[in-house]
Amino acid sequence: MILFKTANALQDRLQKLRTQNLTIGFIPTMGALHQGHLSLVEACKKECDITVCSIFVNPTQFNDKKDFEKYPVTIENDIYLLETNNTNILFLPPVEEIYPDGLRQMQQFNLDHLENILEGKYRPGHFKGVCNVVYRLLKIIKPDTIFLGRKDYQQCLVLKKMMQEFYPGIRVSVVDIVREENGLAMSSRNMRLSNEARNKAAAIYQSLQFIKRNVFNKPVNVLREQAIQKITGQGFDKVDYVEICDAETLLPVTAANDGKKLIALAAAFIENVRLIDNILL
Ligand code: PAJ
Repeated sequence: MILFKTANALQDRLQKLRTQNLTIGFIPTMGALHQGHLSLVEACKKECDITVCSIFVNPTQFNDKKDFEKYPVTIENDIYLLETNNTNILFLPPVEEIYPDGLRQMQQFNLDHLENILEGKYRPGHFKGVCNVVYRLLKIIKPDTIFLGRKDYQQCLVLKKMMQEFYPGIRVSVVDIVREENGLAMSSRNMRLSNEARNKAAAIYQSLQFIKRNVFNKPVNVLREQAIQKITGQGFDKVDYVEICDAETLLPVTAANDGKKLIALAAAFIENVRLIDNILL
């Protein structure tokens, strides 16, 4: 694996690979890597000749300063995991390389309602930051395909919308959610949980499964209420949302309807760590 810290050196290398007709796959991450990230590496290796991974804890997407400061950094282990999983290139830029004009110079993106619902509602400015960093990374790397995890479902829709406008030629490959044995969706933030909380945190997935089992038997409002009770009953401190939505638009539905592809999504806090999850219904 070759590690690059500057965009120029990385671009020189990628240009050489392109002249050999090799396809380039790209996996953006914020590090603290786990099996979920590695499943994206795996998918990339299957679909592309060259696997490029980036690790960059993007300051502009954290609406909560404490969350940014506490974001786990495990760079040595990350390099070890990427190398043992045969990643070809790691891009590890300093902040100035991504934001040469400072963090206030942000590009504007039209994300319509996606910007202000669910994650967007509870994390103002979050998707603006996500779009800015991915827009900048794609400009540098210009991959054939970008690999994203369904764990961050709304992020996938937001980035697809941004890319439709700015990078219509880049393919988006969405990879399924990797879970712990107890069902908890793997996340870098899980590292901040005690063992006890990790066990309890499976309640999010259990409540989403409960929704999936009952979506045609109970009214949507009742389902949401019962799911929220299951999550708080397991010791979560706060539930930001449990919603049942149209999987294409992410607009909430008031009743389950056979014809539409639906998704249930949840976000909740345990031990001051905010966890999200979703399940296709
Ligand atoms: P990060 O949370 O590090 O996630 C990087 C990628 O891994 C995302 O596409 C995410 O959806 C995927 N991922 C995380 N946990 C997963 C799991 N359990 N199963 C499958 N995929 C999983 O998402 C970000 O970073 C950032 O917002 C980023 C896109 C890098 C922009 O800064």
